[in-house]
Amino acid sequence: MEFEEKIRRMFPAAGEVPAEFSLDGPVVCDRYLVDGELRRWEGPLRDVLSPVCIRDGEALDQKLLGRYPLMDEATSLEALEAAVRAYDHGRGLWPTLSVRQRIKYVEDFTFRMREKRDEVVKLLMWEIGKTHADAANEFDRTVEYIRDTVDAMKELDRVSSRFVIQKGIIGQIRRGPLGVVLCMGPHNYPLNETFTTLIPALIMGNAVIFKPPRLGVLLHFPLLEAFRDSFPRGVVNTVFGRGQQVVHPLMGTGKVDVLAFIGSSRAADLLKKQHPKPHRLRSVLGLEAKNAAIILRDADLDLTVPECVLGALSYNGQRCTALKMLWVHSEITGVFLDKLSRAVTDLRMGMPWEEGVRVTPMPELDKTRYLTELVEDAVAKGAKVMNPGGGAVAGTFFHPAVLYPVNETMRVYHEEQFGPIIPVASFDDIERPIRYVIDSNYGQQVSLFGSDPEVIGRLVDPLVNQVCRVNINSQCQRGPDTFPFCGRKDSAEGTLSVSDALRVFSIRTIVAAKTTEPNKAIVEDIVRDHRSNFISTDFIL
Ligand code: G3H
Repeated sequence: MEFEEKIRRMFPAAGEVPAEFSLDGPVVCDRYLVDGELRRWEGPLRDVLSPVCIRDGEALDQKLLGRYPLMDEATSLEALEAAVRAYDHGRGLWPTLSVRQRIKYVEDFTFRMREKRDEVVKLLMWEIGKTHADAANEFDRTVEYIRDTVDAMKELDRVSSRFVIQKGIIGQIRRGPLGVVLCMGPHNYPLNETFTTLIPALIMGNAVIFKPPRLGVLLHFPLLEAFRDSFPRGVVNTVFGRGQQVVHPLMGTGKVDVLAFIGSSRAADLLKKQHPKPHRLRSVLGLEAKNAAIILRDADLDLTVPECVLGALSYNGQRCTALKMLWVHSEITGVFLDKLSRAVTDLRMGMPWEEGVRVTPMPELDKTRYLTELVEDAVAKGAKVMNPGGGAVAGTFFHPAVLYPVNETMRVYHEEQFGPIIPVASFDDIERPIRYVIDSNYGQQVSLFGSDPEVIGRLVDPLVNQVCRVNINSQCQRGPDTFPFCGRKDSAEGTLSVSDALRVFSIRTIVAAKTTEPNKAIVEDIVRDHRSNFISTDFIL
């Protein structure tokens, strides 16, 4: 009870939130962006409750933050039709603009977006419980991602601004848009991971519909005007509401050409199945992961322990890249667990606005109950909670728990906890953690901690064929965003990075002609008099 009471006291009573971070009354967001208009939604709205509870005597009540539209199928289909019209089979204004012109629109949007930074950051904190530092970082990282995308687009355009002459054929090869893209980001990075698909899709000339995740919706509203004012009509459209009502019908029309979805593989499979011609649908998916850390006998624990804490508990472990299973060599397990549990005890826990806070309340409904079930299951099967207070719960807050020894009979060994539980198992034979990675349904990343180049080198070779990134003495992570981000098995489909995303949302297209004198004259004329945006040698600096 001692820890539960401590946690309860972390939540603010009414009036205790610092003025700088407090939110006035519920924000009613009853607009949606379709066909270049911010239309008012007259139908039902959904309440948004914050992970931050307000303490009132013995009670902890999740603060009501605002409301957003629960749109219906017909309205959602209007958004789709607006995107289809804007793309107009590739003949619309947007897909036929020059790259230089599209870049200008995106830069204009970025300028307007930056003006909304404080509003968006504050909503991120309240809506998904991100610390102020992490919320600000998510916003800034997104702006940087857009800038890097613009640079990558210029580079791509420069290399395409020339003709190739091969075997009597002259050709110009560029990348063209695919059509209508449906972008759906996850609740843990609702801004960043929506924009890392939306922006490259747009800049390549596609028309976009985006649906925010169920948690992490309100923070998009301050940006709707910027979208409306920056892009031509119908190029960016929004839908809000339940997936079944607003997304499944879109997929069922067969008019969505690209599905960019970050979430669970179960939801992704359901969405893909709605499409009547699946072979026409390109999918870019970021899905589950259960990244392991393998801590070798000679690992430097002063480096390894903080890195594992960072990897397992940044944003309360709610990252697809989080370390979700630690394998420690049996000779150092005791000392490792001591250091790990002390490091977890030292973490500052509290509300998102507190300076230096590392663990915060969680937004998902019933998340603390799910995590408690995982801990109880593991304890019933022989694991112990190694840190004081591990697994204590009050309201929406779950105190991080280090579990040891974890084995294959326990749920937490297999399931992606996506929360602050650190399962630890020990090994004598390196074959055991390697087998774990091989047998896993997931194949995103792994972290290897050790000092012997000979051992690390030998382990890297089989592991790179199991996952898509092996991190040496470093936590798993997506960044830098110019690095490819992908996964094997149930972890992903397609690759994202600043430059890969431009490829994913486009297709190579060629204009070719036999190099006869009349054809050469036609091509020269088109280029000289700028008669085409595609056949062009213009160079963007
Ligand atoms: O949730 C998955 C994110 O893509 C992870 O990104 O490693 O930068 O936190 P991150």
